[in-house]
Amino acid sequence: MQQHVSGSVLPAGDSWVDVIEVGTRDGLQIETTLVPAAQKIAILNAMIASGIRHIEVTSFVSPKAVPQLADASEVLAGIARRDDTFLMALIPNVKGAERAALTSLDGGVLLCSASETHNRKNLNRSIADTISGFGPVVECLHQAGIDAMGAVATAFGCPFEGEVSIAAVERIVGAYAELGITHITLGDTTGMATPRNVRSTVRALRQSFPQLQITLHLHNTRGIGLANVVVGLEEGIRRFDASVGGLGGCPFAAGATGNICTEDLVYLLAESGYRTGIDLSQSIAVALQMERVLGKRLSGQVMRAGPRLALHAADAVPTAAG
Ligand code: COA
Ligand code: ZN
Repeated sequence: MQQHVSGSVLPAGDSWVDVIEVGTRDGLQIETTLVPAAQKIAILNAMIASGIRHIEVTSFVSPKAVPQLADASEVLAGIARRDDTFLMALIPNVKGAERAALTSLDGGVLLCSASETHNRKNLNRSIADTISGFGPVVECLHQAGIDAMGAVATAFGCPFEGEVSIAAVERIVGAYAELGITHITLGDTTGMATPRNVRSTVRALRQSFPQLQITLHLHNTRGIGLANVVVGLEEGIRRFDASVGGLGGCPFAAGATGNICTEDLVYLLAESGYRTGIDLSQSIAVALQMERVLGKRLSGQVMRAGPRLALHAADAVPTAAG
């Protein structure tokens, strides 16, 4: 079996942060508009041109469950590939891995929720059955030369069950670890992460699984997504999922809203002295492109306000004369 250790294709360093774009996956899976593959491909190519090097492009899931992503293979085939981009997709089962094996995918992200009710809603089976299904999925991916990575949904709270214990998260991470999966994404499916539980969960997992490479997948449902990023940075996390224009949400979780917004995250990181390799102006242009494709206003803030030093003509604003 091949050794699969990748997942990061960019220079490592304390000030370098990998921004993983999930807008065409988490973003589009909840939109009512079905975006044609050609438009997704144009947006993905523009993301890569902006400097994005990690993208969760799509999901190889049931097209009945998520019709928005039924074109997964076509979209992957259309992307202008570069050696320094790492393309990922969600893989819920062997059927998904078999479909992915026929594409140029780099990383397959397995999925399980830390809460039983959300896992049954999302994958139509128990946590125990999901975990026991991991092995054949990993094997199929590895045979195709695709890295296996793991995601834990509802890692910071479940909209159906409430608090999720660290032990419940560790159960899933442990199952991944047994299969040699060290790249783990902690999913805050409905924005229940807080500075406090981000810190405690990351610290506990690092203790139990010192070899873990953690990605935080945060939603801004309660307005504290970027505050949670800052805590993640303080805890040494250097990989964050984010979605163009702040799109996103799981269709099988109550009250799901958008991911943290890519351009807002890129802005925060650049203004905090971190390097991402992403050009903010181009990132904003991609968000505006997505807005035109969906025909609705997106929730991103920096895409409206512009970079910090975007100046305005003084004579365009009235003077408050008494
Ligand atoms: N890709 C394409 N089709 C798939 C598939 C996949 N990965 N997995 C299953 N199917 C098809 C089967 O071929 C079968 O088709 P048929 O009815 O024409 O014979 C049908 O789906 C049912 O298959 P089954 O194995 O019984 O799956 P299920 O109905 O129990 O659903 C999942 C299980 C995992 C496929 C489904 O719950 C799913 O796709 N979940 C993903 C949810 C998601 O993406 N959530 C957002 C991320 S947070
Ligand atoms: Zn999500």
